[in-house]
Amino acid sequence: METVLSGIRSTGNLHLGNYFGAVTNFVKMQKDYNCYFFVADLHSLTTYPKPGDLHANVRAVLAEYLAAGIDPEQSTLYVQSDVPEISELYLLLNMNAYMGELERTTTFKDKIRTQPENVNAGLLTYPVLMAADIIIHRAHKVPVGKDQEQNLEMTRKFAKRFNSMYGVEYFHMPEPFNFGKALLKVPGLDGQGKMGKTSGNGIYLVDEPEAIRKKVMRAVTDAGPTKENQEMTEPIANLFTLMDIVSTKDTVSHFREQYNTCQIRYGDMKKQLAEDIIMVTTPLREKINEILADDAYIRKAVALGREKARASASKTLKEVREIIGFRPF
Ligand code: TRP
Repeated sequence: METVLSGIRSTGNLHLGNYFGAVTNFVKMQKDYNCYFFVADLHSLTTYPKPGDLHANVRAVLAEYLAAGIDPEQSTLYVQSDVPEISELYLLLNMNAYMGELERTTTFKDKIRTQPENVNAGLLTYPVLMAADIIIHRAHKVPVGKDQEQNLEMTRKFAKRFNSMYGVEYFHMPEPFNFGKALLKVPGLDGQGKMGKTSGNGIYLVDEPEAIRKKVMRAVTDAGPTKENQEMTEPIANLFTLMDIVSTKDTVSHFREQYNTCQIRYGDMKKQLAEDIIMVTTPLREKINEILADDAYIRKAVALGREKARASASKTLKEVREIIGFRPF
């Protein structure tokens, strides 16, 4: 069985874009692949979270993935900082990562622009830590968005360099996992682009019904169609795309018909859309809150993940140490 691995940012709750775009695919993948999912809390240190927030964020992410259907028995769900082998492999890989190539990474250049007051070495070596995350389990496939493709390319570069440096064929090259047609692009509510691209355009799984209604009612629309079968502007097309995801076929065709005959009232459409989103998110929200209230369950899931992740990671690290030339006395 092939190994698939995905790192999850530990900041920010899951929104509908994450859920329908990635997480539902992760859930399905679990039976066909040997899956590793981890919360990237070491990576989050590059932006200096407050100690209290750090723990709460990791806990929230775990609860959301568990509620969404990640099965801690079938998959390996763990916290990155629970697996010290990752940090050691990161140190070792850093010796073969060059300043120039790290400085040229797009994500690093972006960070220099967005947080010029804090350009720390952790940001520079972010791709090295990510490579350690991936190759420590000898992962075959990594589902990554566009923004992370270059980082995965760097992983391949570091893995290949390690192999050629030591004349081994130890690491194989991890490939991007392509969801193909299954990858849903969920638009945001601000009339342009994907959900989550800009802050404030997203609906979160934990949002209460009243908050969802408010957000949907405030979604950007246009002045309305003036001729039959008029082409939709982006904000309206986006609302229909959201409806396609959460509403019944009948509901969608009703409003399409109304649009095409210029009778649509966006207020009515939004009301329906909000209720249908609430239908989808309510069981998830309840489950998340149930898990958040159940310390013992979270602790057990994390302990199981840690044990499985460390078993796999320590095997790799032991072999890497031998290849490098660290031998027991
Ligand atoms: N960099 C990824 C992101 O920002 C998170 C991540 C960390 C990751 N380590 C990873 C993703 C390893 C895939 C594999 O979303």
